[in-house]
Amino acid sequence: MKYKVLELLESSREFLSGEEVSRKLGISRSAVWKHINSLKKMGYSIVSVPSKGYKIEYAPDKINPEKVNIASGGQLYFFEKTSSTNYEAKVAENVPDRSVFLAETQTEGRGRLGRKWSSPKGTGVFMSIYLKPNIPPAKVSALTLVAGLAVQRAIGTSTIKWPNDVLLGSRKVAGVLTEMSAEIDRVNYVVVGIGVNVNTETFNIDLIRKATSLYLETGKKWSREAVVNNILSEFWQIYDEFLSGDFAKIRREYMRVCATLRREVCIKKGEESIVARAVDVTENGELVVEKDGKRFPVNSGEVSVRGLLGYV
Ligand code: BTN
Repeated sequence: MKYKVLELLESSREFLSGEEVSRKLGISRSAVWKHINSLKKMGYSIVSVPSKGYKIEYAPDKINPEKVNIASGGQLYFFEKTSSTNYEAKVAENVPDRSVFLAETQTEGRGRLGRKWSSPKGTGVFMSIYLKPNIPPAKVSALTLVAGLAVQRAIGTSTIKWPNDVLLGSRKVAGVLTEMSAEIDRVNYVVVGIGVNVNTETFNIDLIRKATSLYLETGKKWSREAVVNNILSEFWQIYDEFLSGDFAKIRREYMRVCATLRREVCIKKGEESIVARAVDVTENGELVVEKDGKRFPVNSGEVSVRGLLGYV
């Protein structure tokens, strides 16, 4: 209801009286007052003038869960603060297919290969999409490319470092962490975690050379809500194509924007590492590399591929 009050205030340029808000939303005047106070605690500056009512003076860049475009059948799980949306999605019970877990901040955001994902409040998009696709487990790595492509499309002008690091220039702006629960021949669920650095102004010393944000690249602040909705609408479109079996088209588009192809890559597996040339992406989303005239696929789960780009 708090967000309905917010929507109403946002839709009006003039003062709105408490009575009007209470009448339009069918709630008591004291409930309106409580919601206004809670919005103020969230960082909204709302002026209240006794004979006129309420008016928003300043709205922080908050994601309004009521405005997130959820696919039909799915549910939104929204957190002001949580450990990790991927974790929440994995432990939640009776989650409908195509649900979205979204947080304003994560205290233990996780990246691929056991890395951390920095998730300061109000700066980025931290969300996980919960899916129950009727596909064999081997196809899930192709699904992970679907997510990378959805983010790439939503951001525009970006490229993808295989499997799904989204780059602007030579720095990483977004990443995807896909996790699944499966049996030998059946997927129970897949959680596609997406992190985007949107309005991040600065990164710590470890990240500064390799990470960037939409703000740092474009010089303007972005609406995180719009970024969420753009990613979701691209994702549902590509995901439906994927489920209908049309991965060939997705693969073609992916290969066009994949910055890893036609480059030398260093494949690290444990202590060993070899340098080979990335030449193709398979129907299952694996990267095919060529070394001494021999081609072989590499799998994202087992190896760390470091393209010899500026970004590592
Ligand atoms: C990577 O590039 O290493 C993947 C980063 C994925 C980060 C997102 S943020 C939302 C979701 N929750 C997590 O803990 N991780 C993913």
